[in-house]
Amino acid sequence: AILRKVDVLLNKMTLDEKVGQLNQYSGKVMTGPANPKKNDLETEIKNGWVGSVLNVKGARGTREVQDMAMQSRLKIPLLFSLDVIHGYKTTFPIPLAEAASWDLDAIELSAHLAAREAAASGIHWTFAPMVDIARDPRWGRIMEGAGEDPYLGSRIAEARVIGFQGRHLGGTDAVMATAKHFAAYGAATAGRDYTAVEMSDHELWQTYLPPFKAAANVGVATFMNSFNTFNGIPATANSYLLRNILKNKWNYKGFVVSDWNSIGEMLIWGYARDKQDAAFKAITAGSDMDMEGSIYRKNLVTLVKEGKVNIALIDDAVKRILYKKYELGLFDDPYKFCDEAREQQVLNDPQNRVAARAVAEKSIVLLKNENQVLPLTAKVKTIALIGPLVKAKRDQAGAWNVNQDTTEIVSMYDGVLSAVAKNQQLVYAKGGTVQRSSEQDIAEAVSIAAKSDVVIMALGETFDMSGESKSRANIELPGDQQKLFDAIEQTGKPIIVIIMGGRPLIFNKIADKAQAILYTWWLGSEAGNAIADVLFGKYNPAGKLPVSFPRSMGQIPLFYSQTNTGRPYNNEANKLYLSSYIDEQNTPRYEFGYGLSYTTFSYSDLKIDKPVLSTGDSLRVTFKITNTGKYAGEEVAQLYLRDEVASVVQPVKLLKDFSKVMLKPGESKTLVFIVNKEKLSFYNKYMAWVTEPGNFKLMIGSSSDDIRLKGSFELTDGK
Ligand code: IFM
Repeated sequence: AILRKVDVLLNKMTLDEKVGQLNQYSGKVMTGPANPKKNDLETEIKNGWVGSVLNVKGARGTREVQDMAMQSRLKIPLLFSLDVIHGYKTTFPIPLAEAASWDLDAIELSAHLAAREAAASGIHWTFAPMVDIARDPRWGRIMEGAGEDPYLGSRIAEARVIGFQGRHLGGTDAVMATAKHFAAYGAATAGRDYTAVEMSDHELWQTYLPPFKAAANVGVATFMNSFNTFNGIPATANSYLLRNILKNKWNYKGFVVSDWNSIGEMLIWGYARDKQDAAFKAITAGSDMDMEGSIYRKNLVTLVKEGKVNIALIDDAVKRILYKKYELGLFDDPYKFCDEAREQQVLNDPQNRVAARAVAEKSIVLLKNENQVLPLTAKVKTIALIGPLVKAKRDQAGAWNVNQDTTEIVSMYDGVLSAVAKNQQLVYAKGGTVQRSSEQDIAEAVSIAAKSDVVIMALGETFDMSGESKSRANIELPGDQQKLFDAIEQTGKPIIVIIMGGRPLIFNKIADKAQAILYTWWLGSEAGNAIADVLFGKYNPAGKLPVSFPRSMGQIPLFYSQTNTGRPYNNEANKLYLSSYIDEQNTPRYEFGYGLSYTTFSYSDLKIDKPVLSTGDSLRVTFKITNTGKYAGEEVAQLYLRDEVASVVQPVKLLKDFSKVMLKPGESKTLVFIVNKEKLSFYNKYMAWVTEPGNFKLMIGSSSDDIRLKGSFELTDGK
């Protein structure tokens, strides 16, 4: 029925109005370089030359702008879009942090609540989730994704899309989602934002496309281009990506929005002669909407009139966009999302903060806990809080803080203060900034530490050191923070280090010397409470790293799913003629899937129900996990497979499933993994998704390097 309505409307539209639907402009807030050539927004909207507006928010603000569209000839409603990346008013942990929870329900709920708040505030469409696989921690946008692994990334992509959109578009508690940035943006050369990507097809299909495909499969409403070139052709005009793969092979029916002026930037890349050429190349390749570039708006009409662009291309793009406007219900009520009373109620709903605290707790990764210094008990009388980030509030919101009142963020200091017992005393020293600690800063911090039973240090990055265009060539702990730690370490007091940041950082000396380390990323509104919950044992940490943490910068890119090489190095004394570094280990400092708990888990009783299977068949793998420690806690059991011989060399292990389970002390549970054709398939040299007969190794572990159970099986046929 919607298709019919779209056709009827399309028939009434002039060419200018059609092109108008493909045009997106930003409101006053800028999330990219300003577009000085832009015409007056109000006039453009009233003329029917704008299809969507980004960066306008609020029930009242969006109503005012929608009013303008209602004065246009055909009264086609605008789509309001915004970067609701990890929360709207309530800020949830940065996406990479949430990925560390490996908790798909919590991630889905976080996206749902963010969507609910945004939708109550007039927003129809979020530019999230970013599903780019990222294996280079120098790249600042690693904070926006789900880490390095295509399987984990795909499951999280699905959870986020469903969380944002609901099962069907049209509810006032949901928004359209965007799978971005298509494609391979995370592989920017040398981790520098916006650079070129040169990549084999095999790598594209095996590693970078799966989360996009997963998002498309669960009905993500839109895709966004990436800023990079892909094998020499800007992604924005890359017909291999947009037409061949997305719109043809995957039969994708949603629409594709460019990134901010990425059509215009093709001139700067040296791929388009002029703006007309850029418009021609982008629309031909399959980019449907032009974000803030005015390139479509100013060139497509001429291109069609001169017969250079077939009107069918324009019609197809317009139909895709109108379809979504109908699906959202905007033609029935263009102000459906502009209800100020609902906005008030939803934005102040206490359940938002409750959920934010829960997912923040789940995002924390315990990297070290020597002598069980954590959780802190009432025996610890004086606690020193030291470090430049102890009282950080704004930083906890990370990058993409679209609507938060940062005074409402709970700092670590406030969280710990409200959690300490009556007999416990808190002392504090800032110890400088993340960049600089003076002699006096250090002396003050040392004297505070000397008077305490335990020191908790909050170190890391500030919010503006990761995110878009925040690549770093050096990912060690910034500034003088190591110096500050060294001085405190000299006091001999036990030190618990809380590390905050948007990427894996390198902090080897701290990793050696601190008694305990919690990696807390940027946890959002409830950061301080979540950190305190973990410090004092109200919540037993269960996060697992979604990305490898290197020992040194020269190891980058470092990821667990490497291939064996013909000369693998396995810690032999002599490295000669083996694949290794003469000055560094091969292994990460902390591996993918790693994270401790206050309790311990044992794995046993692995059973694979048959030693041999055929392609149509599936294997049932069962095993037991027992909580062997003193605390109730959750464990994420991880299933890895290795296809031992294949027509395209396969990694030594690849994550194929995981299961998060809660166990009381002494309790055991039997878990089941089903291994089917999907889990045994890979892309062959023709990029066909196939299985091949042969032997497989099966590994079940607590991390990618901590394999607890091993088995094997054979696949007798393949397709
Ligand atoms: O959504 C973002 C994108 O990820 C980077 N460029 C700007 C867009 C809109 O703000």
